[in-house]
Amino acid sequence: MATYSYNMVPREVAKVETKWRRICTSLPVPESLPLFERMRKCEPISMVGQPPVVWDRAEGVNVYDRWGNMWLDWSSGVLITNAGHGHPEICAAIREVVDKPLLSTYIFTHERRIELCELLASTAPKGLDKAYLLSAGTEATETAVKMARTYGMSKYGSRKHVIVTFTGAFHGRTMGAVMIGGSKKAKEWIAELPGGYVHVPFPDGFYNEDTSFDVFLQTIKDAGYTPDDIAGVISEAYQGVGPNFFPDEYARKLGKWCKANDVVLIMDEVQSGFGRTGKFYCWQWYDLVPDLICCGKGITSSLPLSAVIGRNDIMDLFPPRSMTSTHSGSPLPVAAALANLKVLLREDLSGRAQQLSVRFGEALDTLSARHRTRIGACYHRGLVGGMLVVKPGTKEPDPGMALALNQACYERGLLMFAPVGIYGECIKICPPLTTPEDALEEGLYVLSEAMDEILGE
Ligand SMILES: Cc1ncc(COP(=O)(O)O)c(C=O)c1O
Repeated sequence: MATYSYNMVPREVAKVETKWRRICTSLPVPESLPLFERMRKCEPISMVGQPPVVWDRAEGVNVYDRWGNMWLDWSSGVLITNAGHGHPEICAAIREVVDKPLLSTYIFTHERRIELCELLASTAPKGLDKAYLLSAGTEATETAVKMARTYGMSKYGSRKHVIVTFTGAFHGRTMGAVMIGGSKKAKEWIAELPGGYVHVPFPDGFYNEDTSFDVFLQTIKDAGYTPDDIAGVISEAYQGVGPNFFPDEYARKLGKWCKANDVVLIMDEVQSGFGRTGKFYCWQWYDLVPDLICCGKGITSSLPLSAVIGRNDIMDLFPPRSMTSTHSGSPLPVAAALANLKVLLREDLSGRAQQLSVRFGEALDTLSARHRTRIGACYHRGLVGGMLVVKPGTKEPDPGMALALNQACYERGLLMFAPVGIYGECIKICPPLTTPEDALEEGLYVLSEAMDEILGE
């Protein structure tokens, strides 16, 4: 896949000055170039590739550089800041812990950790009464897989160890998470992949047109396995590359099949949880109940924290001190998570995402229809949306054009992270759930203008 990059030669762009956006310099800002050069020298090139903004401050729905520019944020970092950037209650909670000070505790007990685990359990179905805290989403997904395998093997013997996952899936970048992920390219470095994983085509309806649950059953069979071999199924509650949601019927059958075969169902909510889709967790859209829920990103709207929430019998499989991490439930992220969850619940930001989704979804559908030869598919729910940019009138991805569109938005003061998707063709939109209506409207207007300019009217 060719890599397309942002223009790094400063050029004059139209000045913008509104309540939500200010562009007052050339872009990229000429004074910022030495910083990008330093970054190239001291960080791996893998860290390059986002729109060239040097973040200096981020507050509410805005990101500021130190040269006077202000972007309206449609990235939420990378679906982190569901409660908005730098929420005052989150900042105050962090400050309180810093001022004590209580900066690290290992797994010695601290009160807020207990409070957070109780609060997380209260957001999950009855019977999923325990939460285990980690730092990164990738640790949460790997841990969930470890738990599912341990459950299957300890109950039924070593045969029940296979993990079913999906093509196109993303569960993180550490080794185990890459193995369960759906990208063949991302796995090349592992060279000798172990057995015990089956990748079922995700029923997205675009690249994989057959969305029937039979494909799931047949893929497992073709791999030479029966349900007695399967320990767990892991899936993002929506696949980030679309965002792609399970068809209702498929999800219902998946849930039933897992229950019938005592297969641990893991919903990876690292990206989709904490109100993003208009429900607290995205799996709540489906007629199924997971056994383990992986959380991250929006759990704090800020600092790094992840969690697995799960069924008591599965969560207690590991004896004392055998499933821990140095920074499990570290005091600062825990304080941030508690404050964030209180804001999300008190202000019903899931409900707000659901309410805003009407206008958001309708606008994305209208724009996609207007550019139907260039937008192969458009998906959205709550305040997450994606448009797949394709070569005219085909299903062939056009990552170069997706990047050009993303750059045109950036130059107008609307910030998204670089296009995602299996081929880099997806313009992904994920504003903070606190986005005011007029800011949403303004963002949609900017997107519409940029689409007309880049994709042609
Ligand atoms: C669905 C999903 N799972 C897991 C991860 C990995 O999380 P982290 O980057 O915090 O390790 C991500 C990150 O983008 C994700 O979107």
